[in-house]
Amino acid sequence: MGKTDVFLSYEHSLKSIVDRICAELENDGIRCWYAPRDVIGDYATSIVSAIDEASVFVVLLNNESSRSPHVLNEVEMAYKRIIDKEGELTILPLRLDNEDLSKAMEYYVKRMHWIDATTQSVENAVQELKHKIKAIIKPARQEEEVRIERKTNMYFDDADEKEKKRLKIQQTLLESFDKALYDKIANEKQTMRILDLGCNNGDFVMNRLGAKENVECLLGLECNAEAVAKANEKYGSDKICFEECCLECDDLEKNIRGFCEKYGISDFNVVNVSMLILHLKDPLKLLKTVRRFLKPSAKIIVKDIDDGLNIAYPDNDGLFEHAMDCCLKNELAGYRYSGRQIFGLLHKAGFRNIRLVKSGMDTSSMNYDEREALFMTYFSFIKNDFDMLTEKYPDNALYAENAKWMDENYDALEDAFLADDFFFTLGFMLFEAER
Ligand SMILES: C[S@@+](CC[C@H](N)C(=O)[O-])C[C@H]1O[C@@H](n2cnc3c(N)ncnc32)[C@H](O)[C@@H]1O
Repeated sequence: MGKTDVFLSYEHSLKSIVDRICAELENDGIRCWYAPRDVIGDYATSIVSAIDEASVFVVLLNNESSRSPHVLNEVEMAYKRIIDKEGELTILPLRLDNEDLSKAMEYYVKRMHWIDATTQSVENAVQELKHKIKAIIKPARQEEEVRIERKTNMYFDDADEKEKKRLKIQQTLLESFDKALYDKIANEKQTMRILDLGCNNGDFVMNRLGAKENVECLLGLECNAEAVAKANEKYGSDKICFEECCLECDDLEKNIRGFCEKYGISDFNVVNVSMLILHLKDPLKLLKTVRRFLKPSAKIIVKDIDDGLNIAYPDNDGLFEHAMDCCLKNELAGYRYSGRQIFGLLHKAGFRNIRLVKSGMDTSSMNYDEREALFMTYFSFIKNDFDMLTEKYPDNALYAENAKWMDENYDALEDAFLADDFFFTLGFMLFEAER
């Protein structure tokens, strides 16, 4: 059994009701925990762990249960967990009679929103309860299914031709999304000392900033040695250089200092972080480290993605929903809910005047070619990635299944995507902030 979604707290006389509630919730895939059914080993420890794991704490309330020391203990523990962990648990009281609650119980639940089974049938109240629980556990479940936490970068090297092509198309298409911000920042600065993180072959940063006249120096850092060599070959000069560097290594600060000494760079006043953070395990550490190399008025640009912002409509057969779900399970595609974390990451790292400049890239004003390019940008890489993953992990049934599904449905997706009345938004997010 996986993680607990719901802890059910009740008094013994309500056992038959709790059984019914539990059956109703579990029928809908909601994972419940209640004593004594789920107790393993020591009773008290088992209860504490279950409350600690749950996302929702449901307490069945009537006059008797509000006086039960066991129920009060459990409610107190849940309450404490909310205080300690800043709201990671939701308490949902289900009121079963109109009699007065004990003072102690009133203290805990007075200001909470109750589900009232006295003004509607218990069945309806349980439906309301289920509805509320589903809304609460949905985001947690989605992330759990995809990835519980950020992982080390799994980005493949750029030796793959298809991947290179995708990056190129993506760069062209994204220009219309973010170019204005890069131009604005370049215009704000008399001279730019640019640090580009995750520069790949240098195309992106050179297209947006590197070719501007006021570039004093540009340092691009990238873990892929081959991409770095290409970048130097194509763009290297006395003021533009690219270095191989893992941005998650322990010696990062020392390494950047070494590069600065090597090229005589005192500090940076523009940092570019485009489509990198989603690939990192600990982006906060990187942002904090990089901030130490910045001038007080330096600007940082962060572009990232959040698939929670994607919309595909109409999607009558659910093909797009399925394809986007595949993308969430694609370990090469990074952490797909990264975008929503950027504001908090920048803030925690000490950046100020954080602004979401733009979010969502949509098809409404795109011509046919642009739509095709956007389709390629997003959907062809899901397909390619699963092909690569099946090659790399031939025994992984999930990858094989997704690769097959993408293969079988790719043309249908493309046809639907290119239809005149189809609307698509991709969850790119573009932020700027100041040191
Ligand atoms: C999606 S590409 C983005 C390239 C470019 N910034 C752009 O926006 O087109 C991400 C790049 O970050 C690099 N990268 C990912 N994790 C890294 C790490 N820990 N250290 C250095 N580079 C990393 C990848 O190798 C890849 O080149």
